[in-house]
Amino acid sequence: MEEGDKKRIRSECIKLLREVGCDESVVEHCIAVAELALEIALHHNHSEGYNSVDEKLIFEGALLHDIGRARSHGVDHGFVGGEMAKELGLEEKVVRIIQRHVGAGITAEEGKEMGLPPVDFVPETMEEKIVSCADNLIDGGRRTSIENAIEDLKDKLGETHPSIKRMIRLHKEVMGRSG
Ligand SMILES: [Fe+2]
Repeated sequence: MEEGDKKRIRSECIKLLREVGCDESVVEHCIAVAELALEIALHHNHSEGYNSVDEKLIFEGALLHDIGRARSHGVDHGFVGGEMAKELGLEEKVVRIIQRHVGAGITAEEGKEMGLPPVDFVPETMEEKIVSCADNLIDGGRRTSIENAIEDLKDKLGETHPSIKRMIRLHKEVMGRSG
């Protein structure tokens, strides 16, 4: 991605987050996630053994992944954000990144228990996986470890919740040997 594209996407997305009413802490978090997601994307695109990924899509999706937090900080903020992104006329690929980023995704069954529509919101494409994984590695505006992210998830959902294994699997798939 050209430096000019990066600057343009960054400023357009930040403007949009503010326009819909996201707090500055959310904006700051989204910027940190986007920088890390782009770093991971560059690693995929410049290392052996990975398929190439769409850097612009990852950067834009990561910047907007928490847009739903303008309306909800609950577990539904991915779904809510997806609806907002559709209303705003954002690309389908960006909508899906937003919908599928929470934790390591939410299955239809888990969603039903949480009062979400019974639809699978689990990241499928590598672009979706990279944003979700980067989000797990950023706490607020700072880098955290996968071990801390897993501890947080266990505190929230209990030791045996299926999303814990899913988060570990996602991390391994996205980060490979680079940890
Ligand atoms: Fe989020």
